[in-house]
Amino acid sequence: MIASGERSRAARILVVEDNDTLRRGVTRALREAWSDVDEVATGDAALEQIANTAGSPYDVILTDLRLPGADGVDVLRAARDSDERTSVLIMTGYGSIETAVEAMRAGAFDFVQKPLDLEQIELRVARGVAQRRLLDEVVELRAEQAARNAGDKLVGDSSALRGATDLARRVAPMRTTVLITGETGTGKELVASLIHAASPRAKRPLVTVNCAALPETLLESELFGHERGAFTGADQRRVGRFEEASGGTLFLDEIAETSATTQAKLLRVLQDQEFHRLGGTKVLRTDARIVSATNCDLEERVRSGGFREDLFFRLNVIRIHLPPLRERPEDLVALAHHFSDLFAKEQSRPVRGFTEAALQQIRGERWPGNVRELRNTIERAVLLAEGSRIDVGDLADCGPGLAADARPRLPTEGLSLRDMERQLVVEALERTGYVQKDAAVLLGISRRKLNYMIQRMRITHAGWRRNRGPETGEGEAP
Ligand SMILES: Nc1ncnc2c1ncn2[C@@H]1O[C@H](COP(=O)(O)OP(=O)(O)OP(=O)(O)O)[C@@H](O)[C@H]1O
Ligand SMILES: [Mg+2]
Repeated sequence: MIASGERSRAARILVVEDNDTLRRGVTRALREAWSDVDEVATGDAALEQIANTAGSPYDVILTDLRLPGADGVDVLRAARDSDERTSVLIMTGYGSIETAVEAMRAGAFDFVQKPLDLEQIELRVARGVAQRRLLDEVVELRAEQAARNAGDKLVGDSSALRGATDLARRVAPMRTTVLITGETGTGKELVASLIHAASPRAKRPLVTVNCAALPETLLESELFGHERGAFTGADQRRVGRFEEASGGTLFLDEIAETSATTQAKLLRVLQDQEFHRLGGTKVLRTDARIVSATNCDLEERVRSGGFREDLFFRLNVIRIHLPPLRERPEDLVALAHHFSDLFAKEQSRPVRGFTEAALQQIRGERWPGNVRELRNTIERAVLLAEGSRIDVGDLADCGPGLAADARPRLPTEGLSLRDMERQLVVEALERTGYVQKDAAVLLGISRRKLNYMIQRMRITHAGWRRNRGPETGEGEAP
């Protein structure tokens, strides 16, 4: 007998057999060897068990072929759908060998013939568990490999970045939710794809939804799908992203930008893995793994009542924070070289690296748009570079999103920098309705600095006087 006298080994096993005596006998024998053995008497009950344990699937399912209701082949299919690593053993009566062969073709691991011989069953179950362990190892190795490949794409050797990628790799194989935070362009989406690529779900889809891109109803229909006629314009049923991402990963980008209703629905999916399509009543289930990202301070949103605290806790099980580029200057040069090589190859340009002065300039910038801004700048520089190395001139005037043709030009007759400055400050204020905070962003300077300039230039606005002077007047005027 296997494992008799030994302590039982860890494995999750399900026995499906309608004959009570047989089922109890087999279950009792298996319990001597294995830690978790469940038993059910019908195929339908087995299907329910399989659905309920999708998070931690059985290692081995031992099922009778002929069962009332759903039969052994149905159980086999459901098990393989839920997790193909489960070893399914079929028990067949004498004379149903052909069906057994069919079951083998459908992916059964092995079969045993009745009358049942307990020793044979134990032997095959042990093999089934071993097979399952082997497949687990394969999946793990594959995930490590994928993580290494994806990790190569995340350039930078700062300890901050390494900390983030190490954590991403460690949580990848688990089903826990991950919240990725960081300013715009710091690489949140890249980390999300690393997590997916390094997970056992890598072969299933990574589905991305940008929560800020759609108004409420459209976002909900995007996420949960809708039935025909659910709202005006819904002339066909639509499968939502949660369904699409089943077995895979759902990346919810800009999660802070969701309405209260959407947040409530998201909470329900996270709690019970249940949802329904808009206008539908049927309860659907999903096992999609949720990774979300935001570039705003979600804790602050929770405090100010704009984001549900319970949802925040569910999303924030693991937090990966990507610091802004200015806080990890060690990454700048590696990233710059990475992008120049990348674009030189892509654009077939004979560009090799940078002049020392260009690197100096790159190190000196603040890069408010982070890696994305650096990437765009280098892409443009590779195009503009006349020499074989990118020089300061190729990098010049590279503000965030400032297209080459929108670059200000010095008129031939020259101009007064002071007048120009004032003109730009006034324009920025006008465009933002005299909200200094927003105007400062447009100008790429701090609020304090703008406030100082406003005082110096004696710019006034009626709206400010109503609110006790300039609205950011925090007493820092010179
Ligand atoms: N460490 C890195 N190595 C290589 N490329 C990077 C790295 N970090 C970011 N990138 C690149 O920079 C660009 C911006 O990254 P990404 O889209 O992931 O940023 P994000 O944090 O999601 O920004 P946003 O909040 O604006 O959506 C992408 O092209 C990405 O490939
Ligand atoms: Mg993003």
